[in-house]
Amino acid sequence: MSYNLLKGKRGIIFGALDENSIAWKTAERVHEEGGTFVLTNAPIAMRMGQIDVLAKKTGSEIVPADATSEEDLANLVAKATEILGGKLDFVLHSIGMSVNVRKGRKYTDEKYDFTAKGWDVSALSFHKVMQTLYKADAMNEWGSIVALTYMAAQRTFPDYNDMADNKAYLESVARSFGYFYGKEKKVRVNTISQSPTPTTAGQGVKGFDGFISYAEKMSPLGNATAQDCADYTITLFSDLTKKVTMQNLFHDGGFSNTGVSQEVIEYFSK
Ligand SMILES: NC(=O)c1ccc[n+]([C@@H]2O[C@H](COP(=O)([O-])OP(=O)(O)OC[C@H]3O[C@@H](n4cnc5c(N)ncnc54)[C@H](O)[C@@H]3O)[C@@H](O)[C@H]2O)c1
Repeated sequence: MSYNLLKGKRGIIFGALDENSIAWKTAERVHEEGGTFVLTNAPIAMRMGQIDVLAKKTGSEIVPADATSEEDLANLVAKATEILGGKLDFVLHSIGMSVNVRKGRKYTDEKYDFTAKGWDVSALSFHKVMQTLYKADAMNEWGSIVALTYMAAQRTFPDYNDMADNKAYLESVARSFGYFYGKEKKVRVNTISQSPTPTTAGQGVKGFDGFISYAEKMSPLGNATAQDCADYTITLFSDLTKKVTMQNLFHDGGFSNTGVSQEVIEYFSK
C-alpha cells in the first residue's frame, strides 16, 4: 500500500547489495511512496551484488562511492543533487563491515588494523557522509538522515565482536551531528536499532541462526524483518516525524525491553 508519504522528496540510499539488504527493501518502499533517489555502494560491492536490478526497478541512477573516501562522497553528493535536480530530503546510511569478524578474530584477539578499517567503514563513515552533506549545504530544511544500528551498542552480545563498539560510536555521532544539523539547518538525524535480520552482513556474525531464533522467542511481536524496517524508515523520512531527532530508535518487536519471555522460561523449566 502506498500513502504518497515521500512525493517530491529526493535522497541518497547507501548499502543495497542484494534483495535481502535492508537498504534494498527501503529503496523499494521509498519508490512506492513517490520519492526519487540515487543508489550508491562501494565499487567492489557493485561488482558482487545486483544493484543494477534495483536501479532499473526504481528508475534510479547509481553513483559508486566508498563511504570511507571523502573524495568519493563529495562526488556522490554533487552528482546526486545534479541528477535529482535539487537539494536532498533524505539519506539512508545502511553500511556495516568488520574485518575482525570476517577473518574470525575474536574480540580478545583483535588485529588493530582490521579494527581501524571496520570502524572507518561502519562508524566514522556516518560522520563523513554528514560532514560532506553539511559542507555542501546539500540538505533541504526538515530533511531526515537515518543510519542502521544494533543493540550490541548498549548490551553485550559476545559474537558481535568489534561491531558493538562501532555501533556505539555510530549512535553517538547521530546525537552529536544531530545537534548541529538541527540547530543550523533543521535537519534531523536518527539511528534505527534493528532486530537481527538475515542479510549478508547479518549472517556474517557467528552463531547468527541460533541468535535470530532466540530473539524471535524473546520479542513479544517477533523479530522485525527487513521489510518492516523499510516501512519504519519511510515514516522517519516523511513529514510526519519532523521533531524526532538525535534518537536511537529500537525497532525490534519489543526485544530490548523484555527481561525474559514465557517461551524462554518454558525452555529452561525442568
Ligand atoms: N542484518 C542484521 O542483523 C542487522 C541488525 C541490525 C543492524 N544492521 C545494520 O544494517 C545495515 C545494513 O546491513 P544489512 O544487514 O542490510 O546487510 P548488507 O550486507 O546487505 O549491507 C551492508 C552494506 O554495506 C556496504 N558497504 C560495506 N563497505 C562499504 C564501504 N566501504 N562503502 C560503502 N558501502 C559499504 C555493503 O556493500 C553492503 O551493501 C548495517 O549498518 C548493519 O550493521 C543489520
